[in-house]
Amino acid sequence: MDPLDVVVVGGCGHVGLPLALSLADSGYRVGIDDIDAAKIEQVRSGSVPFLENGAEALLRELLPSGRLELSADPGLLARTDTVILVIGTPIDEFMNPSVRVFDKVLDDLVPHLKDGSLVVLRSTVFPGTTETVERRLRAAGLDVEVVFCPERIAEGHALEEMRSLPQLIGASSDRGFDKASRLFKPLGVSIVRTTPLEAELAKLLTNTWRYMKFAIANQFFQIAHRSGVDYNNVLDAIRRDYPRAADLPGPGLAAGPCLLKDTMQLSAFTPDHFPMGQAAMQINEGLPNYIVDTLNSREPLAGRTVGILGMAFKGESDDPRASLSYPYVQDPSFVPLEKVVADSDILIVAAPHKAYRKLELKGRDVVDVWGITGPIRL
Ligand SMILES: NC(=O)c1ccc[n+]([C@@H]2O[C@H](COP(=O)([O-])OP(=O)(O)OC[C@H]3O[C@@H](n4cnc5c(N)ncnc54)[C@H](O)[C@@H]3O)[C@@H](O)[C@H]2O)c1
Repeated sequence: MDPLDVVVVGGCGHVGLPLALSLADSGYRVGIDDIDAAKIEQVRSGSVPFLENGAEALLRELLPSGRLELSADPGLLARTDTVILVIGTPIDEFMNPSVRVFDKVLDDLVPHLKDGSLVVLRSTVFPGTTETVERRLRAAGLDVEVVFCPERIAEGHALEEMRSLPQLIGASSDRGFDKASRLFKPLGVSIVRTTPLEAELAKLLTNTWRYMKFAIANQFFQIAHRSGVDYNNVLDAIRRDYPRAADLPGPGLAAGPCLLKDTMQLSAFTPDHFPMGQAAMQINEGLPNYIVDTLNSREPLAGRTVGILGMAFKGESDDPRASLSYPYVQDPSFVPLEKVVADSDILIVAAPHKAYRKLELKGRDVVDVWGITGPIRL
């Protein structure tokens, strides 16, 4: 069996697959290891399991090159000295990060890892995880370097951002840093060196900062809306030709697989439980309730048909993870757009897909806090 330059564990996921494709596109021989055998088969047949700009075309181009190898068996790791872990890092039922996911994965991987290897953690992890993983691997008798190189792409833009965003490398040794720098060099991005803990915090703070910006935008919207003014006019007055406020986002359902989870991770890490983060979670998670309460106070919703447009967590995405539209879906079988529009008494735009811009909604009762179908309205 030929050696592999790198193996991506969790390589069929939203982060793992674009990364594996980019590395193979840079000339590496890449192994994709994923426990989901169905996804492995799907990718092997040339289909990407989720929407990601340009990914399917690149996959189809790379498959015949032989530079991509896929397997649901971690035995693939025995053929490399560079392993990237991109497994999901969920929050448990007590809103704490499930740090044990790494224990389980490491148990499975240790028998296949070699001395002298580089292990790159790329999932967004609870602060201190890199050091813990390194200690565990060393305790298992392995002489390996563990570094933290967070993924910072936005879903849908992964291939282009992988080659433009600076790569953070959180390393505790020069040896680990040098190996990781060599690994990412063909992507042509600049490198920022930190300690592992600094990089872990940088990633969590970045996502939390973004989540909090959406929260303040949603809170401002509610303050203005409650006082009966048109928020479109307020936003325009704030932003127009005023660069210091140009980055105030509009309101919207802020959800998805990362921002809320990572704000929770930071909250769990912080001894005083991070009241600003908790307020952000309450505001963002509470926006659907605010919409429902407002509609109910106008005319009870019971007996009326409400159509929800968009179940993904953001526009132009097919990812429904942690979407804020879900709690209001009574029936899991969705109906076609035309039928929703035709049969609903009220339409709520829950994800700002560009396709909704073209909908004919004149005279309809529409809630659109994004302002994608016209002005912001509730
Ligand atoms: N989705 C994003 O835009 C994004 C951006 C930056 C960072 N992140 C972080 O990256 C991590 C992964 O997120 P994702 O969105 O790619 O998740 P995902 O669920 O799409 O992918 C994870 C993949 O890992 C596989 N997997 C799980 N356990 C495994 C194991 N033991 N061995 C092999 N494969 C295994 C799963 O089958 C899945 O294909 C998370 O920590 C997330 O917070 C995500």
